[in-house]
Amino acid sequence: MRMSSFVVLMLGGALALGGLAWGGHAWSVAHVRRWSGRQDLGYVNCNHCHLSIETMPWAKRRPHHPAPAGLAVSPDGKKVYIALDDVNEVLEADVISRQVSRKLKLLGAPFGLAMDCKGERLYVTCRDGDRVVAVDTKEFKEVESIEVGAAPVAIAFCTTKAGDRLVVANSISDNISVLTVAPFKELARPLAGREPYSVAVAQDGLVAFVASRLAVPETYLTVPDSELTLLDPARGRILLRKPFESAHLAEGTATVPGRPWSLTPLVKVRNLVPITQVANGWVMSSGLAVSDHQGNIVQMPLDEAQDYFADPSAIAVDAVGQRAYVGSGGSDTVSVVDLDRLADWLAKADADTKREAIEDLSLSAEYVVARIPTGRNPRHLALSPDGRTLFIAERLDDAVLVVDTATLKPAGRIVLGDGGRSDPIRRGERVFTRAAHTFQRQFSCRSCHPDGHVDGLSYDFDGDGIGDNLLDNRSLQGVANTAPFKWNGKNPSLEIQCGPRFARVLMRTEPIPAAELKDLTVFLNSLPPPRWERKRHQPLTPLQERGRKLFFATVTSEGKPIPRERQCHTCHRPPLFTNRLPSAIGTRGPRDTTDMFDTPHLLGVAQTAPYLHDGRAKSLEELWTTYQTNDLHGVSSYMNKHQLNELVEYLKTL
Ligand code: HEC
Ligand code: HEC
Ligand code: HEC
Repeated sequence: MRMSSFVVLMLGGALALGGLAWGGHAWSVAHVRRWSGRQDLGYVNCNHCHLSIETMPWAKRRPHHPAPAGLAVSPDGKKVYIALDDVNEVLEADVISRQVSRKLKLLGAPFGLAMDCKGERLYVTCRDGDRVVAVDTKEFKEVESIEVGAAPVAIAFCTTKAGDRLVVANSISDNISVLTVAPFKELARPLAGREPYSVAVAQDGLVAFVASRLAVPETYLTVPDSELTLLDPARGRILLRKPFESAHLAEGTATVPGRPWSLTPLVKVRNLVPITQVANGWVMSSGLAVSDHQGNIVQMPLDEAQDYFADPSAIAVDAVGQRAYVGSGGSDTVSVVDLDRLADWLAKADADTKREAIEDLSLSAEYVVARIPTGRNPRHLALSPDGRTLFIAERLDDAVLVVDTATLKPAGRIVLGDGGRSDPIRRGERVFTRAAHTFQRQFSCRSCHPDGHVDGLSYDFDGDGIGDNLLDNRSLQGVANTAPFKWNGKNPSLEIQCGPRFARVLMRTEPIPAAELKDLTVFLNSLPPPRWERKRHQPLTPLQERGRKLFFATVTSEGKPIPRERQCHTCHRPPLFTNRLPSAIGTRGPRDTTDMFDTPHLLGVAQTAPYLHDGRAKSLEELWTTYQTNDLHGVSSYMNKHQLNELVEYLKTL
């Protein structure tokens, strides 16, 4: 071939390729403009709008681990029962030999355990199966099962004048199932606060205490209170509802024999204080709430001035009411509280001192008499009936630590698995739950994102220290492939979101090391979207189906066309219900620097209240009743009350 024809050929080829590329680009831009209805968008990556659920990391199979959840000890102290929600098993282990003696397969993520007085029946909540199972301990098999509310977690057995009862905290349906034992039946299902998560019943069987994990603030600008619900277990009737003031994340409750108390570890949260105050310890601290049977509550600190014991979740009290043990999942510690000393302090203090107690971290020295180091993430505790042996579920080590309470030294371990060291998801979860990455170990990622979800609060992350530029927390469940992140959509990747940015804004310490950050990202990507009450693959009801039609409507009820850029499904495009693009929908607040916000995905949206970037909308309805502006957030003005309700009911199924 002559040189000149080679050049001509190459030139021609390059031009053709360039032309194709240019044509492709022009097609893409036109395509995006057509389907988004927006002229301001130029070239946009195809996977902003064309995604499939099958390729989501959370849709893939993942390793499962024998992570211990609820514990229960037999009345003779010889056996300990362990719920393993991730592998759908309940184990029986021998206390002396520390060996697993029997295994029972129970579908639906067995989580909470309660034993009857004689040790004949073990009651198990199945968190994903929405049921409570009665297990015969002699045969070690399921004998009865009953449907309760959605996502039951904690359960307590008690004897009342009217017969034996079970009280169950249903964390997703926000209610309490009160069950009779013989016959095995639901007696009542009263409402609790948001995410009821722990239960305990007074020795006399007259009062049950149910602590709800999340707060429901009056508005996003007010202090968040969570609920302590007192009820009569015999009849299943509510006695009182009391607030844990400016506190939340109560994940354990215990009553105290010989004293009219319930004890609830919780997180004192000051979300309205600018996050720059981390260095002063003003953002979060751990407390122990003492409530009497009239619902008078005093919150006492568990931390020390220079050292924090983040994410207190488990509690156990001995049978003589002398000592309480509190497990801090974030700091791998169990704190030992001397209840006589606590009672002395409470007897001497006046009302004002009690109200301020939680702010004075030096106080804990008065009653916290020891700290027991544990394996990773101690999340559940149980005591032997004689109080001599403490069992600590080391959730992220797949082990149960056995501690001799006389010496407070480990007496051994019930090993359930290898801890999952070779699984990056598990390693990432360890990073997520560990407070060691924050200044004075004040909090972990989990402190704001319990189970990778939201705490329902708005925080002031602005560096200016003024404290009114609030950002609503976002769920990390289903976060995979929804980049960019943050409400302003300015973070391109999870590594940046959780690495340098987190270090600068929140931790006030060194950033998380690169290898751990990588694991953390794998963990976040593995979190499936939150589940709501509707079970997967359940057909839509006629009402929800009408709501679906409204969501995908291209014309109003009167037949007027809805512009493409105002149709819900243009911005909230299936399957994730986001096009991952910023949009202006008229929600700019007085202190926002922009009106463009990241289009949030809507998977599990029913569970992520409040809504919008600052959390101003308390409910889904409010998005279109109180906060709609000129049909900018989808055209909704044509909808009547019933249609709006149908739309909302459909959103709740996503
Ligand atoms: C802003 C969102 C958006 C982006 C970005 C986008 N698409 Fe689409 N695309 C759509 C919508 C909406 C449809 C309509 C049919 C559907 O729902 O699949 C569509 C349809 C298509 C179709 C079917 C033919 C048609 O035009 O109806 C093809 C092929 C396609 N897209 C390819 C691409 C490619 C290649 C890219 C990247 C250059 C891209 N899309 C980027 C939203 C988008
Ligand atoms: C003090 C409470 C708090 C803590 C602690 C916290 N977060 Fe967040 N997180 C938030 C809030 C509030 C937002 C919304 C902020 C925004 O959009 O600008 C958020 C947003 C996020 C997002 C973006 C989600 C999205 O869809 O855009 C990710 C990812 C995230 N957090 C991960 C983490 C990880 C990982 C940690 C621990 C290293 C952590 N968070 C610790 C409160 C917290
Ligand atoms: C022009 C794009 C666009 C359209 C059209 C649109 N949305 Fe949105 N949507 C957004 C953006 C952006 C936000 C976040 C705004 C903010 O935080 O201030 C949002 C927020 C939401 C939220 C709150 C999510 C949360 O976690 O806070 C819901 C629910 C929602 N939209 C549903 C709908 C429905 C239903 C329609 C149709 C009636 C609709 N949207 C139409 C862009 C859009």
